[in-house]
Amino acid sequence: MLGKIREWLRILVVLALLWPVLVQCTSNIRHYKFNVMMRNITRVCSTKPTVTVNGKFPGPTIYAREDDTLLIKVVNQVHYNLTVHWHGVKQIRTCWSDGPAYIAQCPIQPGKSYVYNFTVTEQRGTLFWHAHILWLRATVHGAIVILPTLDLPYPFSKPQKEVVIILGEWWKSDVEAVIDEATQSGLPPNISDAHTINGLPGPVSTCLSQERFNFLVEPGKKYLLRIINAALNEELFFKIAGHNLTVVEVDAAYVKPFETETILTAPGQTTNVILSANHKSGRYLMVTSPYMDSPLILVNNKTATATLQYIGTNVSSTTFTVPPHRNATSIARKFMDSLRSLNSKKYPAKVPMKIDHSLLFIISLGLNPCASCYKGFRIVAAINNVTFVMPSVSLLNAHFNNRSGAFTDDFPGFPQYAFDYTGIPPENLRTMEGTKLYRLEYNSSVQLILQDTGLLSPENHPMHLHGFNFFVVGRGKGNFNPKVDPKNFNLVDPVERNTINAPSGGWVAIRFRANNPGVWFLHCHLEVHTTWGLKMAFVVDNGNGPNESLLPPPNDLPKC
Ligand code: C2O
Repeated sequence: MLGKIREWLRILVVLALLWPVLVQCTSNIRHYKFNVMMRNITRVCSTKPTVTVNGKFPGPTIYAREDDTLLIKVVNQVHYNLTVHWHGVKQIRTCWSDGPAYIAQCPIQPGKSYVYNFTVTEQRGTLFWHAHILWLRATVHGAIVILPTLDLPYPFSKPQKEVVIILGEWWKSDVEAVIDEATQSGLPPNISDAHTINGLPGPVSTCLSQERFNFLVEPGKKYLLRIINAALNEELFFKIAGHNLTVVEVDAAYVKPFETETILTAPGQTTNVILSANHKSGRYLMVTSPYMDSPLILVNNKTATATLQYIGTNVSSTTFTVPPHRNATSIARKFMDSLRSLNSKKYPAKVPMKIDHSLLFIISLGLNPCASCYKGFRIVAAINNVTFVMPSVSLLNAHFNNRSGAFTDDFPGFPQYAFDYTGIPPENLRTMEGTKLYRLEYNSSVQLILQDTGLLSPENHPMHLHGFNFFVVGRGKGNFNPKVDPKNFNLVDPVERNTINAPSGGWVAIRFRANNPGVWFLHCHLEVHTTWGLKMAFVVDNGNGPNESLLPPPNDLPKC
C-alpha cells in the first residue's frame, strides 16, 4: 500500500515538474506584455524621448501559429491616450480587440492597461501591429509572424532561416508636434527626415547616426524576408544589390511565386520574399526609397540603406545599387500586375461571384473654411465627399448597445453626383462632415470600386480595410466604366490582401464577404490622409447562426 502511494507521489512530482513543458507543447495561448514607455532611441537620428513598446524601435515581434490565441497586455506608461491595432488580423467576432481608437474601443488612458485577446484563424505569413491613435504609430509598431499549422507546411520549399525587415520613416522632431502644427495651419505636415530599415537609416548626411542594419547570410542558403512597410506616409521601393527576390506571400496570403528585382510596398502592406544567397562572398547594399508619381506632392527622397553580408568574408567594399526613381510608375505597375493568389486546392481563392452591395467610393482631397488657417482654408480629405469626423465615444460600443447619436448609417454608397472624376476638377472643393457608417447584413457580398479623383491632385491611396481580406479583381486608368470594365475582372486568382492602392488617376475594384460582425474601419493608410478625414467604417450586423455574433465586450475594455 505504502509503495503504491509512493509510486503515485513520484508520478505526481514528475508531472508537476514537466507541467510547464507540457503546457508549452500543447497550449495554443501565447502571452505578451507591451509596456508603452518613453525612450531615447539614440541609434537613429536624434536623442529626444520617443514613444516605444518595451523601449524598442521597432517594437517586439509577436510570434503565433495559425489557430493560436494571443493575449497581449498593453500597459500605457506614457502621457498620450493609446490603442494598438493588429493590422490585417481578421479578428473574427473579436472587434473589441481590433484597436482603432474611437472606432472599436475607447483609448487606454495613461496609467491604465488593456488585454487584447484574439485568435488567429485562416491566415499565415507576416502582418504587423501598430498604435492606432494620433501619429504614434511612427514609432509604435512591430512585426506579427504567423507560422502555418504543423500539418500544413509552406507551399514553397522551406527556407533555412528568416528575418523580419521593417521599413519606417523617422522625424527628428516629435511627430505629435509635427501633425499638431499642420492641423493648426491647415497645411500639409512636414515630411520625414529619414527612412529606416529595422530602425536604422544608414548613413544620412543630416543625421548623427551612421549605423545600418547588417544581415548575415551563408552561401547557398535560402532566406525568408518578411518585409513590412510601417512608414506613415510613403510607399516604398525595396531592393538588394545582386539578388533577385521571389515573392511568395503578401498581407498574410500566399501568392503564385514570381521573381523580381524590386518590390513595391505601401504603408500597411507586408511582403514575404525568398532570397537565395547565391554568391560566394561579399557585401551587398539593401535600399529603400519612396514611390510617388504625383509631381505636386512632396516626399522625403532620402534612401535608407542596409547591407547583406556573406558570413566569413572580409569585405572592404560594398556592391552598390540605386533604388528606382520616385516616379517609376512602370516598375510599380509591373510589380502590382504580377501579384496573383495561389488559388490551389489547399488555398482556394473564394472570390464572391454574386454581389449584394455594389459600391463606388470616390477619393478626394478638398478645402474647407477655417478662420484661423492659412488663407482661410484647411486641407481635408473625403470619401464620396464625406470627411469623416472622429467621435468621442467608441462606435463599436454604441453599435453593440444600440445607442443612437454616435453615428448615422447613411454613408452614401455612390458619389452624390457623377462628374469626370479624373478630369478637370469642379470648382467647389468643399466637403460635407459627418460620422457616417455603411451598414452590411451578415455574410453579404460587397464589390467596392475605389476611384481616385483629380481634386487638388491625383495620388495613390493605399486603402486599408479592417476585419477582412478582400480580392483585388480589377484596376484601371481614368474613370471606372461599369459597362465595360467588369468584363475584364479577374475572378479566378486575384490577389488577396488587406491594403490596396487606389491608383493615381484611376480605380481599383475589390470584393469581400461581410462575414465578421462589428464596426470595421476603411481608411487611407497614409496617416496624413487619415488625419484629414479619408476614412469611413462599415457596420456589419450579427448573423443568426451560433457563431455569427459579436462576442460580448471584455471586462477590462477601456472607457472614454
Ligand atoms: Cu494599419 Cu487602421 O490601420
